[in-house]
Amino acid sequence: MAHKVSKTIHDLKHYKYLSCIITNKTSVVYKAQHKKTKQIVAIKIYENTPLFYQQEIAALNKLQHKNIIHMIEHWTGDIYYYIVLEYVPNADLLEYILKLKDQKILFIEAEVRFIFKQILEAVLYMHEHKICHRDLKPSNILIGEGGQHFIVADFGFARDFSDGQLVIKSCGTIDYASPEICCGKPYFGPEIDVWSLGVILYTLTVFSEPFYGYNNKDIAHKICRGLKIFPKDFSVQLKDLLGKMLNVNAKYRIKVEEICRHPWITVEDDEVVLCP
Ligand SMILES: Nc1ncnc2c1ncn2[C@@H]1O[C@H](COP(=O)(O)OP(=O)(O)O)[C@@H](O)[C@H]1O
Ligand SMILES: [Mg+2]
Repeated sequence: MAHKVSKTIHDLKHYKYLSCIITNKTSVVYKAQHKKTKQIVAIKIYENTPLFYQQEIAALNKLQHKNIIHMIEHWTGDIYYYIVLEYVPNADLLEYILKLKDQKILFIEAEVRFIFKQILEAVLYMHEHKICHRDLKPSNILIGEGGQHFIVADFGFARDFSDGQLVIKSCGTIDYASPEICCGKPYFGPEIDVWSLGVILYTLTVFSEPFYGYNNKDIAHKICRGLKIFPKDFSVQLKDLLGKMLNVNAKYRIKVEEICRHPWITVEDDEVVLCP
């Protein structure tokens, strides 16, 4: 919606436009400032996608957690839909991974655990509140002040699964999509988040995604076959956990509560401070 950017700048109510953070296919995100309180915020604006807007505000209205983006307010304009969020000053997790990869630096296992446990806490809380995210991936994990705080954002695909209904809606990015999504099979929701968490955990460990291919069809084919082998340098416990998260059969896939009790997660590391 790049050509519409200038139009939305004049419709920010009591916020002053500062800069454009990103323009995507369905949304644009601005950095802005409250005219009176001077609070810096991020304003996410959707066009023609009321469903994403509705899903995002419904989820964020229900969720208050230190590892989940905080929604300040929202409103509907003539054409656009506005969501005001706390501003998160650093890059997202994808940019951070790419920067370290460029510098040929990998995380040690304690650093992976430090990051992953924060994402896991957010997802455990969401699932306890019957919300599944359906688009978990590094570009939707923001990095807060100081570079040590990880915050799950982008709830445009989020769904309340308290109705216990199976759905078949395809969501998210193919690389992080579960076999159910790839094959168009019905799912409840939490199980597809667990799969995506598995892909995130793998990616944090080696800085490359477990499923890759020439095109989406090729990637989907590999996802549905599952992962047979893990890199040799993965610890036994990590392989065990990943095997359980990336179980192709959703019925037997580990649940978020069980991940929290897994021995790889409950290890007590010395204090971790990530490099900037
Ligand atoms: N609250 C925020 N503070 C700072 N940057 C943000 C914020 N929300 C989103 N962004 C930036 O905008 C990008 C897109 O936002 P996101 O909510 O993921 O929307 P989309 O649906 O377009 O992917 C994020 O990857 C992040 O870089
Ligand atoms: Mg996103």
